[in-house]
Amino acid sequence: MNHCKLALIGSPVKQSLSDTYHNRFLSYLGYSERYEKCELSSEKLAFFISEAKQHRLGLSVTMPFKEQILSLLDDIDETAQKIGAVNTVKFKQGKAYGYNTDGIGALQAIQYIDPRPLEKKRAVIVGAGGAAKAIAWALSQANMEIAITNRSPEKAIALAKNLNAQALPFEDLVSVIQTKCDLLVHATSVGMFDNSTITPAEKIPSHVTIFDILAAPKNRWLEKLAQQGSLTISGKLMWMFQAIEQYKIWFAPDFMQIPVNDLLHALSHSMEIPPEMAAKQSIYLG
Ligand code: ATR
Repeated sequence: MNHCKLALIGSPVKQSLSDTYHNRFLSYLGYSERYEKCELSSEKLAFFISEAKQHRLGLSVTMPFKEQILSLLDDIDETAQKIGAVNTVKFKQGKAYGYNTDGIGALQAIQYIDPRPLEKKRAVIVGAGGAAKAIAWALSQANMEIAITNRSPEKAIALAKNLNAQALPFEDLVSVIQTKCDLLVHATSVGMFDNSTITPAEKIPSHVTIFDILAAPKNRWLEKLAQQGSLTISGKLMWMFQAIEQYKIWFAPDFMQIPVNDLLHALSHSMEIPPEMAAKQSIYLG
């Protein structure tokens, strides 16, 4: 029998460091459960879930399954339903329950770096996939003014309509960033595997805060933006906050008793980044 009670499912997952981080973190916290990565094709998803109900504790879900998994779950919590995507599954007594920790993780990462009120501030979100949906939902809950753009415009239009946000043509991205943007959220896979970027760093004015959801991008876009004087938020920080929310779900009710600052410290240690990384990773010139 598989001894890994926790797993990341998606495709591709080879590049993900989640298993390394989670296993160090689980050991640090004294849990005996282990975490693995499972590369799955879409056709195998339903079988995987039905098997997992019998012996797993939970899953992290990444692309391309965050939406596809909805129909395979026994129940979906209200936030994940509103977002329309699931990134976390908990198994209990043979049933599968879906949650979404991406939105809250993103919001906490943003507020950790920049605690100023978000209300009425203008966010431009690039992307309309599972992660973008969760972040757009969380930012709309924080009463930001949101504009969404995506390579496939129909997805941006549908997401914007759901949230009472504005959909932008992709070609207008640079001019909107330069004139009507306080927070730029990059929520696509551009830069995950190569040097490509959604827009050159030089075109982004330094007063714009940039949040890149990629935890380990291959481009040096965010570093370049930080060097230019922008306030930047890395996907690693979002990953840390959303992971803490996952532990609360998987290990409820015990996990709630550990203070968040201790968790962040332990997680940043597990990720081999200095504990003060989050606060120091960027230069704030606001
Ligand atoms: P996730 O769950 O991480 O959001 P996803 O649901 O597969 O993953 O969404 C990936 C996002 O990256 C989408 O917004 C996608 O745009 P499309 O809707 O047009 O597919 C975006 N994306 C992927 N590759 C891209 C590229 N080369 N240029 C621009 N956007 C890209």
